[in-house]
Amino acid sequence: MAEQNIYILGIESSCDDTAASVIHNGKILSNVIANQKIHEAYGGVVPELASRAHQQNIVPVVDQALKQANVSKKQLNAIAFTRGPGLMGSLLVGTSFAKSLAFGLNVPLIHVNHMQAHILAHYIDEEGYNKPPFPFLAMTISGGHTQIVRVDNYFNMTVIGETIDDAVGEAFDKSGKILGLGYPAGPEIDKRAKLGNPKAFKFTKPKLEGLNFSFSGLKTAILYFIQKETKNSPSFIEENINDICASIQYTIIGILIDKLKLAVKQTGIKHIAIGGGVSANSGIRQALKDGEQKFGWTTYIPKFEFTTDNAAMIAIVGYLKYLDGHFTKQNVTASARLKI
Ligand code: KG4
Ligand code: ZN
Repeated sequence: MAEQNIYILGIESSCDDTAASVIHNGKILSNVIANQKIHEAYGGVVPELASRAHQQNIVPVVDQALKQANVSKKQLNAIAFTRGPGLMGSLLVGTSFAKSLAFGLNVPLIHVNHMQAHILAHYIDEEGYNKPPFPFLAMTISGGHTQIVRVDNYFNMTVIGETIDDAVGEAFDKSGKILGLGYPAGPEIDKRAKLGNPKAFKFTKPKLEGLNFSFSGLKTAILYFIQKETKNSPSFIEENINDICASIQYTIIGILIDKLKLAVKQTGIKHIAIGGGVSANSGIRQALKDGEQKFGWTTYIPKFEFTTDNAAMIAIVGYLKYLDGHFTKQNVTASARLKI
């Protein structure tokens, strides 16, 4: 292909982060995120508040992404945005904004599936980063998602396992809530787990056949365990917090690794790429490294800023679709339950 100069703006607003990014020929020039602190006080994302905050943030965030990239609106070749899945009110803000901007600039519009984007974030050009070869298995683990996907090509991917109830990040966050930790509790549990004994307390893993996940039983088991122990000794949590966190984390990682092992067995694919906020967890990173030694896996973990919700991943999908001529009509609508 002849050398081209393609600039794409990516916009992400599916949950509680308003984000914009400019990509130039596969390389990220800017990646701006406005986190919505307002939800912390509620211990979870409040959809109504999220939509309002997106509306407030979207113009300044896009403006900042263009400025940081040193790119003018006129240089943009296309506008890519998250169509779904996500919270409807949140998606509507990004979708409407992207449509209007593309219309105003008279450039193509490109819709992006948020779950595909978490996976294709591995194709952002980054010095020293090895992109996974096709086919590979992608495990997306965050506060909103838990999926294992077989990826045969950029736009040919199949979900082979997913959660039937809570997402893995929710399992961390809800366990943390029971323990009186702040929201989101994942990073705090990770920190404390490093100081504790992962085998101090035993929580049974769910007995779910196949590649689907379930985390709601674990949360209930932890709740009953804590209620029982604090009845006997009111300072139980305080005295054992590191061991409790280590044991919870150990159980959750065990569930993820068991399913990955089964997915590798079923597909014969040993390239494993992870994404989503929970991939920051030091225990899962170590477990994947161990998998390289023990099972001959090759694992791929992108830079942290490309694993949590971000717009760089939307921009890279925009770029890949642009090269392929996948454009979207102006009558497109947001889709809260969009499937891969
Ligand atoms: O991808 P993300 O930023 O947002 C979405 O949920 O889409 O993921 C946030 C989730 C939260 O549940 C948070 O507790 C979890 O990722 N998380 C972690 C860690 N860092 C973030 N969970 C475990 N260990 C961590 N180090
Ligand atoms: Zn996400």
